[in-house]
Amino acid sequence: MSERSARIKNVSGLLHLDSSHSGDSVSRRLSSLFARTWQERHDGAEYRYRDLAADPVPLITPAYCALGRRVERHGYVSPAKVPSLVESAAEEREWALTLPLVEELLAADTVLVGGPMYNFSVSASLKAWIDRVTFPGAYADPDSGESLLRGTRVVVVTARGGAYGPGTPREGFDFQEPYLRTYFTNLGVAEKDLALVHAEMTLAGLVPDLAHLQPVADRSLAAARAAVTELAERA
Ligand SMILES: Cc1cc2nc3c(=O)[nH]c(=O)nc-3n(C[C@H](O)[C@H](O)[C@H](O)COP(=O)(O)O)c2cc1C
Repeated sequence: MSERSARIKNVSGLLHLDSSHSGDSVSRRLSSLFARTWQERHDGAEYRYRDLAADPVPLITPAYCALGRRVERHGYVSPAKVPSLVESAAEEREWALTLPLVEELLAADTVLVGGPMYNFSVSASLKAWIDRVTFPGAYADPDSGESLLRGTRVVVVTARGGAYGPGTPREGFDFQEPYLRTYFTNLGVAEKDLALVHAEMTLAGLVPDLAHLQPVADRSLAAARAAVTELAERA
């Protein structure tokens, strides 16, 4: 680990993101269970919370893209050097919106993402965070080019109205888990440090045609709660 990444990891803690737009959210209840359990074990550790639905990350703009392209042309540019490449007030604003998110992600040693399945993938509020926080070169060690997120642990907790496991009618419709897996591993998070937990069939209690699947929903939620607790205790 380089000196820079070692310094960043010294101020580590938990970054907790929620992205459900529902008032009665299963993914929020599960992410909160993780956060509470984790906090009990890490007395005094840093805890940061972002509600991406209540406090949305602004969508990226042409100025964000222009700044990102300019940075990419310079190879590995650390966040500290990005201001020297800014060419307009609009780009300065974009960077001011982006840098705190990048720093938060770099500072966390555990990232907890709570998210609903919307239209077979992630909510737009989570995608807005992803598009902005993934600024070119922000996670590359400028000396070695290696990812500064090697060693960061990521726990994703999702809730879905239906079920997507092997043998279900909608097997193959899940673009949420493969997307998030690809996203975080491409960013440099090690496969072994990435865990995804799903509570499925959450609509069984609501949709009359799915009522007979309530036992499946109950089992899925109980398994998700156990998995989340175990992951938080292991952290
Ligand atoms: C806009 C929207 C789109 C949804 N799309 C899907 C879907 O594609 N597949 C699914 O299984 N459930 C879908 N649902 C149901 C949610 O995944 C389900 O209610 C889940 O519990 C949401 O997470 P939450 O409880 O944390 O809010 C959708 C719900 C909403 C509001």
